[in-house]
Amino acid sequence: MSIVLGLDIGTSGAKAIAMDETGRLLASALVEYPLHSPKPGWAEQDPEDWKKAAFTALKELASRISVADVKGLGLTGQMHGSVFLDAENRVIRPAILWCDQRTAAQCDWITEKVGPSRLIEMVSNPALTGFTAPKIIWLRDEEPAHYERVRKVLLPKDYIRFVLTGEYATDVADASGTLLFNVKERCWHRDLMSALGIDADWMPSAYEGPQVTGYLTAEASDITGLPKGIPVVAGGGDQAANGVGCGIVRRGVVSASLGTSGVVFAHADQVSTDPEGRLHTFCHAVPGAWHIMGVVLSAGGAFQWFRNALWQEAWAAAKAEGREIYEVITAAAAEVPAGAEGLLFLPYLTGERTPHKDPFARGAFVGLSLRHDRRYMARAVLEGVAYAMNDSAVLIRNMGVPVDQVRCSGGGARSRLWRQIMADVIGAPMITINVDEGPAYGAAILAAVAAGIYGSVEESCDAIIHEVNRVEPDPDTGKAYARWFEAYQALYWALAPEYRRISQILG
Ligand code: XUL
Repeated sequence: MSIVLGLDIGTSGAKAIAMDETGRLLASALVEYPLHSPKPGWAEQDPEDWKKAAFTALKELASRISVADVKGLGLTGQMHGSVFLDAENRVIRPAILWCDQRTAAQCDWITEKVGPSRLIEMVSNPALTGFTAPKIIWLRDEEPAHYERVRKVLLPKDYIRFVLTGEYATDVADASGTLLFNVKERCWHRDLMSALGIDADWMPSAYEGPQVTGYLTAEASDITGLPKGIPVVAGGGDQAANGVGCGIVRRGVVSASLGTSGVVFAHADQVSTDPEGRLHTFCHAVPGAWHIMGVVLSAGGAFQWFRNALWQEAWAAAKAEGREIYEVITAAAAEVPAGAEGLLFLPYLTGERTPHKDPFARGAFVGLSLRHDRRYMARAVLEGVAYAMNDSAVLIRNMGVPVDQVRCSGGGARSRLWRQIMADVIGAPMITINVDEGPAYGAAILAAVAAGIYGSVEESCDAIIHEVNRVEPDPDTGKAYARWFEAYQALYWALAPEYRRISQILG
């Protein structure tokens, strides 16, 4: 038997999985770590926490499988985070994460320096607060003593790759999210780096998803119990790896993941860029392919916020009855009609990326009346997130990429009601598949391709992944939602100036 492993350095924890050559899950281990927010809008993690968690998860995995059969380990993780290393490979300061919003001024500086359309031409994306380059410039502006010491800048999973193999390497999908990568040519953009004063030697070598980047060191082998010398494969940023894990390796098949953030992800055979940069265009973990995606910063996160804010007592009661609070809330939402009788929810709790690129946007309930209780609010939250996801689906379709079927993943996809709302709003069937192990599973698939178990990423996905459930869109409800969606879209533009004012008042 051959075994391949996947390791995901996620935002809430490190997840390691083992699968056999048929894609059967053999074992998985999850070790959580905290996220720190030292100031409003800031999000940081300690790379030492990732390291400890990765070692613990891999060790636990190793204890539950036949390690002699392991043929490779694929890596994936939260994208865009910045790990700054000094000349002795020491971590200089906590990593600044993908959801951190501190770099608005640096994004403006980059955009002015390069020019908005030239920037999109060079790296296929605009400067967004979560991306890596603005974080490097922020360090230069705000922590010059730290900046002076920088010798390497690594993405989260690539710091763990360095710990496991001693190599500085990344994959083309994760590199695409730095804003320093030539997405069209699949290599670092040296001209842009020099225009921004960023030393090209700071960035690691970039590989295609199923390429080997190094081998497990003796030290990492001693700690984890995995054999020394197993190949460590490039893998992909979490979205690309999740795309592989959901079989999004062909045109027309799109995924919608409803985790803390929500992502609408489409495979593309050619580089296509939204001229306004509202969608991200990144290299795919499938060699020679790209992906376009929209990111909703608070999707499952908005639902979690709503649960925490208004359902604490019900949650305690549900626990006592052995029920899941999510089921209780979605059952309440199912009691009210589609459209929640005019109550609309904007899920911009931590700003928004797609389509607004606005760090100042915030959440809102609009249309509250005396009739609305928290059942209506629950429905409005589910619908508001679906509208936000549809914003991306509409842009993807407008770029000429079809959205024929949507494969749902993430915690939110467990709800039948939410899948139905998504199907009705987006106008495409929502499909669940036989695996929902997230990015770690895609990373393991890439390791299987690197090990020669499959001839290509497409071949492995065809062999391993299949549909288990399909929710068809209801055309009548779809028509009703189309009108509410227009109102939802208009609300952002009505509120945008006030979001800025609120941010200024808050200072
Ligand atoms: C993708 C993105 C998030 C993070 C965390 O652009 O910012 O999906 O990778 O999961």
